[in-house]
Amino acid sequence: MNTLQVKLGSRSYPIYIGCDLLGMTELYVRHIKGKQVLIVTNETVAPLYLDTVLGQLKAYKPTQVVLPDGEQYKSLNVLNQIFDTLLANKFGRSATLVALGGGVIGDMGGFAAACYQRGIPFIQIPTTLLAQVDSSVGGKTGVNHPLGKNMIGAFYQPQCVIADTNVFDTLDDRQLSAGLAEVIKYGLIRDTEFFGWLEDNMDALLARDKKALSYAIERSCINKAEVVAEDETESGVRATLNLGHTFGHAIETGMGYGEYLHGEAVAIGTCQAADLSRRKGWLTDSNVERIIALFKKARLPVNPPGELSPGQFLELMSVDKKNVDGEIRLILLKAIGEATLPIGVDEKLLQSTLESYSR
Ligand code: NAD
Ligand code: GLY
Repeated sequence: MNTLQVKLGSRSYPIYIGCDLLGMTELYVRHIKGKQVLIVTNETVAPLYLDTVLGQLKAYKPTQVVLPDGEQYKSLNVLNQIFDTLLANKFGRSATLVALGGGVIGDMGGFAAACYQRGIPFIQIPTTLLAQVDSSVGGKTGVNHPLGKNMIGAFYQPQCVIADTNVFDTLDDRQLSAGLAEVIKYGLIRDTEFFGWLEDNMDALLARDKKALSYAIERSCINKAEVVAEDETESGVRATLNLGHTFGHAIETGMGYGEYLHGEAVAIGTCQAADLSRRKGWLTDSNVERIIALFKKARLPVNPPGELSPGQFLELMSVDKKNVDGEIRLILLKAIGEATLPIGVDEKLLQSTLESYSR
C-alpha cells in the first residue's frame, strides 16, 4: 500500500492506494470517531462490494442507502434519499458517511455529508478509475441541475480516501477509458514527463497491467493533491483541473446526463481546447495531433456530437462556474504540460473552433 497526503492544515487527509484495501478494517476504523455509520452506494456497486465493506464495519452495524445508478440521478431529488435515511435513523453529528462507488456516489455522498446537520465526517471509497484519480480527492462535492452540471455543491474534504485497485476487475473497458481522460489531463496541464509516460504506456494501462495502473493513479493523485493544497477553493490554479471541462459539461448537459460519460465528454472538450490553443498560436499542429492521438489510443472519442450546433454550445457554455460577469472563460494550453488560468477568449476564435467541428 502507498499512502499520499492531501496537505490542507487541520483538514489534511491520507489517500491509501493499493490492492485488497477494502478488506483492511483498520483503514476505516482509524477514521471513524462516533458509533453511527451510513454507507451510501448504488445498485451496481452494492452487489459487488457492499458485503466486503459491511464486513469490515460490522461493529458499527451500518445503515445503508442504495441509490439508482447513473449521472441522471445525481440530482437534488435523489440526494434527499440520503437525508431521509439519516433522519429516519436519528443520525447525529458524530456519524460517519461512507461513499462507496464512482464519482457520482462520491460527489453526492460528500455533498450529503457537507449539508447534514451542517457537516458530518465522510470517507471516500472510489470504485472507478476516474473516481480514484480525480473526484474522490480534493473535496468538490455536489449534484447536477437540469440547466447546468455540478451547479449545486460545496467544498468539503473527506477524512480519507481508500483506493483499492482490485475494483478494476469488475469495471468495464468504456469506464476504464473514461478514467484515463482525467489521467491524461494531469500530463497536459502540469506534468510533461507524465504525458510522455502515458504515450509509452497506454497499451499497458488498457491491458489493466496492475503496475502501470498503480503508477498512473499515484502520479495523478500526487498532481491533484499538490494543486488542491495550493488552491483548495479554486481561486487560482485549481481551475486548471477543468481543462476541457467547459466544452465537456456543455456536451453532458446538452446531450442529456448519462449519454456521454464524464471522461468521454472531457476527452472531446480537451481536444476542442487544444484546437483553440492552436488558434491562439500556443500549440503547434503537431502538439494537437499528439494530444488527439493519445485520447484515441485511450479509446476515447475526440469529436463532439453532431447534434450540438455551435450556437447551442455557446449557450450551454455560458453556464459555467469559471465565467465572470457573463463572459465565458476557459483553460487553454500554452504547451503540453502547461495550462493557462481561466481566460476570456475572442468570440470569433471560439466560434472557429466550434464551427470546425460542426457538421
Ligand atoms: P459513475 O460514478 O457514474 O460510475 C461509472 C459506472 O461504473 C456506474 O455505472 C457505476 O455504477 C459503475 N461502477 C462503479 N464502480 C464499479 C466497479 N468497480 N465495477 C463495476 N462497475 C462500477 O462515473 P465516474 O466516471 O466514476 O464519475 C463521474 C462523475 O464524477 C461525474 O458526475 C463527474 O461530474 C464527477 N467528477 C467529480 C470530480 C470532483 O472533483 N468532485 C472530478 C471529476 C469528476
Ligand atoms: N475535477 C476538478 C477539481 O477537482 O477541481
